[in-house]
Amino acid sequence: MSTTPIGFRHDNNNGRDLFQGFDYIELYVGNARQAAHFYRTAFGFKPIAYAGLETGMRDRASIVVQQNDVTLMLTSPLTPDSPVAEHVKLHGDDVKDIAFSVQDAAVAFEFAVERGARPILPPTVIEDPHSSIKKATIGAFGDTVHSFIERNGEGGNSFPMFQPIENAAPSVQTGLTSIDHVALSVAPSQLNELVDFYNNVLNFHHSFTEDIVTDYSSMNSKVVENGSGRIKFPIVEPGPGQRRSQIEEYLTFHHGPGAQHIALTSDDMISTVRALRANGNEFLPTPKTYYDTLPERVGEIEESINDLQELSILVDRDEWGYLMQIFTKPLLNRPTVFLEIIQRKRAKGFGSGNIKALFQAMEREQAARGNL
Ligand code: FE2
Repeated sequence: MSTTPIGFRHDNNNGRDLFQGFDYIELYVGNARQAAHFYRTAFGFKPIAYAGLETGMRDRASIVVQQNDVTLMLTSPLTPDSPVAEHVKLHGDDVKDIAFSVQDAAVAFEFAVERGARPILPPTVIEDPHSSIKKATIGAFGDTVHSFIERNGEGGNSFPMFQPIENAAPSVQTGLTSIDHVALSVAPSQLNELVDFYNNVLNFHHSFTEDIVTDYSSMNSKVVENGSGRIKFPIVEPGPGQRRSQIEEYLTFHHGPGAQHIALTSDDMISTVRALRANGNEFLPTPKTYYDTLPERVGEIEESINDLQELSILVDRDEWGYLMQIFTKPLLNRPTVFLEIIQRKRAKGFGSGNIKALFQAMEREQAARGNL
């Protein structure tokens, strides 16, 4: 455990935490306009802000979509030499920036850079006549970065230099409420290096360790989180196995470490997953036999097993409570980033009891793609 300077203690008191929570996630995508349509119609996000040629951006266009406390910025290149184009060429549509809300962007930036973070954007005021933010950015892992977003007073949720999107086509919310965690995939034996980065450079702490072995492959996992626990990163590396694990498949097609999945919370898992399925989203299937043993594995739960089975929702219990979760298929043709939908009923874990079931389900999919 690193030494902790006064004022930045792991005290579960949000007051002096460096980071308040996830602010937004920026994805670099081939075509932001089409991606926004997808996130609107498939997941119920509302497009709220736009930047591009019309607002003075020459090399990229961005559309911000939002649902409750989940904000995604979808950015695509306008020119072949845009860094966004380079990123998408190498990684495909991908999480580029996992941005944190901060009280003071300069303090957070200096804290991280003093401890070895790679500076990308020093604290910079971004403003227009309507709103102002201060933003700083550091390198995280691979080509992924963390921005620190300081918002002040009114217009606190706005995006300066973007124009509001009015008269957007209707979006029907699906009950996604917040970002629970982002899972990161790293190459074999890089897990501890990245855990050290979050602990030493960003003052996170290590909260869980899980090593998972299936019949064919294995992975090692550690979870790091910030002081308040509002920002959580399960980090996974492939372990030894007879065949390529889903993590190795991710690393191969993503070309390096990256964000493997974004977990979004729902307060009503059954109706959220039902709505998402009705919108055409595809989820990993769960073997029927999974539900035969569910009552003895998780005990009493409030939901009907029939509903859970109909929707392929997984359940896991830890010492604090239980959680329900489900994983989409990859969001693009490359088998890389996907979404998780999660509802916690007091559980604090990440569904480790389900990871074997997930692994087995994903390995069946991977075999179908000829990559196992
Ligand atoms: Fe997860």
